[in-house]
Amino acid sequence: MARIIGGIGTTHVPAIGGAIAKHLENTPYWKPFFDGFNAVHRWLNRERPDVVVVFYNDHGLNFFLDKLPTFAVGAAQEYRHADEGWGLPVSAPYPGDPELSWHIINTLVAAEFDVTMCQEMTVDHAFTIPLSLLWPGAARPVRTIPIAINTVQHPLPSPARCFRLGQVVGAALESYLTNEKIVVLGTGGLSHQLDGTRAGFINKEFDLMCLDKLVNEPEALTCYSPLDIVEQAGSQGVELLNWIAMRGALTGRVSKLHSNYHIPISNTASAVLLLQNEAGAATYRKAG
Ligand code: DHB
Ligand code: FE
Repeated sequence: MARIIGGIGTTHVPAIGGAIAKHLENTPYWKPFFDGFNAVHRWLNRERPDVVVVFYNDHGLNFFLDKLPTFAVGAAQEYRHADEGWGLPVSAPYPGDPELSWHIINTLVAAEFDVTMCQEMTVDHAFTIPLSLLWPGAARPVRTIPIAINTVQHPLPSPARCFRLGQVVGAALESYLTNEKIVVLGTGGLSHQLDGTRAGFINKEFDLMCLDKLVNEPEALTCYSPLDIVEQAGSQGVELLNWIAMRGALTGRVSKLHSNYHIPISNTASAVLLLQNEAGAATYRKAG
């Protein structure tokens, strides 16, 4: 059986890509942020996962406001990046794993998640920046499966629904008949608001509460509505939904190996969280 070895949450601010392109990682502004990934690199080098499932939100590169699925799963041979207008280098394509994608899609639809299936899908900074942070350089050592959650156009899915989505994805991964080692990733957040009268809004207290609950009590976050999260974390802070889905996919006993919280990176409260998933201790296997 495939094994979910862990989950990672990380911010996906585009300016991170600019810092990487200009080799600014060790400058005073960026060092406290990039140093937060050293422990994650050590873990990934030791564990060497084969596949990463990425819960993220598209910001208009692949989907736009005219047609915006609530949940979309990639089922392509590879995923291309493209110029989004941030002035960032365009990344080389990311290898996919269509067979595992279809297994996830079949499991989700059987569990009454009527997802959009994407046999072609471009991926934006919310996918590419986290992969550059986790696996620096041009190498592509893992196959990838993008799962896009709408955090852009209301009505948004609820935290409870996103948690459940993650649970079903977790059950799908664990019923896959290979020896694959899989990491699940949730990107975006934490609190930030890019526009309107609250532009620049950050809520440290709420962020730290979420980072804490995500470890051992993720259900506590499922009692919020999407608008509660907008209020508490900002209109883009609702990207927390991607982290909640990631946590839902950890079906075993979860322990925190590392976290870093650093304010601000661009307009955003940045964070990274590394969770180990001990397979077999099926806390959430009631999903399905
Ligand atoms: C920023 C943050 C985001 O999550 C994003 O998608 C774009 C920009 C920022 O803080 O600049
Ligand atoms: Fe974003």
